[in-house]
Amino acid sequence: MLILGIESSCDDTAAAVLEDGEKILSSVLTSQDQIHSPFGGVVPELASRRHLESVYPVVKEALHRAEVSLADIDLIAVTQGPGLIGSLLVGFSFAKAIAKVRSLPYKGVDHMAGHILSIFLEQDRPNFPYIALIASGGTTSLYLAKSCTSFTLLGRTRDDAAGEAFDKVAKLLGLSYPGGPIVAKMAESGAPDFIDFPRAWLEENSLDFSFSGLKTAVLNYCNRQKQQGLAPQIDHICASFQEAVVEVLVEKTLRAARLHGIDTVVLGGGVSANTRLRQVFFRRSADHNLKCFVPRPAYSTDNAAMIALAGYHSYNHFGPSSFAEDVYSRSQLA
Ligand code: KG4
Repeated sequence: MLILGIESSCDDTAAAVLEDGEKILSSVLTSQDQIHSPFGGVVPELASRRHLESVYPVVKEALHRAEVSLADIDLIAVTQGPGLIGSLLVGFSFAKAIAKVRSLPYKGVDHMAGHILSIFLEQDRPNFPYIALIASGGTTSLYLAKSCTSFTLLGRTRDDAAGEAFDKVAKLLGLSYPGGPIVAKMAESGAPDFIDFPRAWLEENSLDFSFSGLKTAVLNYCNRQKQQGLAPQIDHICASFQEAVVEVLVEKTLRAARLHGIDTVVLGGGVSANTRLRQVFFRRSADHNLKCFVPRPAYSTDNAAMIALAGYHSYNHFGPSSFAEDVYSRSQLA
């Protein structure tokens, strides 16, 4: 079965062709970082306008690179939510239109299911059940993955997502967008224990996250430095901030594994590109005898191959989506 995946939930337009939920024939993505960079964050109206321009060429390129045509496609899988409604609507309407015209089945996919399953795009794959930490710009959540179609939400951020915290801290330090990779780069020459920024552990055994207090702590620290006439030591601030985020993400994942008696942990979402997070995730998992899996950055950040993969399994299990369905802004994974 050949699956065409389409993703447009935020600021990347992506398309991919997957064979039988296993083999990636192509995976194409255009980023809008340059458009949103001057604003320090994604501007929804600009994002949907650019999706409109990009969706057709990106899909065409994905088919071309896979050396197939639309006539060869058996299923269209498309992100239905969560995300920016205007952005989602572009990919979703495009997918529905192709499905209608070609009399193909289509499957709306929850973007989070794509992230949870993205590790299956790699050769080294986990067994179910596993704990998945998904940390991106739009969300930070912990899931118990029981099968390719069954996921339980264990905890999520009560305010900012981890990637959002990186982006906001970058902005207040005068760094550009997206802030995650830049903060990570600056952190390389800083000391992670230079400033003891707060860690929001929340209630005992809570698997929720909170990063807005940490962001405010960075702001307050910078303001105090300024009042004392001191130039902020950006590298130390970045390293200490990053350490606080990484420690909470990793320890909460280990906590989830312990509370649910699970021996496998998986990392996904854009923030998992963070080298320090990967290092600590592997080290702490080994300390606790947990099997640990992290997809390469191309599959842990937003991409359409993971949408094709999740759509393939969801279609096989639940059947096609109806044309009456619409996009949604909040994840439907309970
Ligand atoms: O999953 P993703 O590609 O898409 C959205 O959520 O839209 O994640 C993007 C997020 C951004 O907030 C970005 O700053 C963050 O992932 N990010 C990183 C790194 N690379 C990307 N955060 C920390 N360290 C990185 N190396």
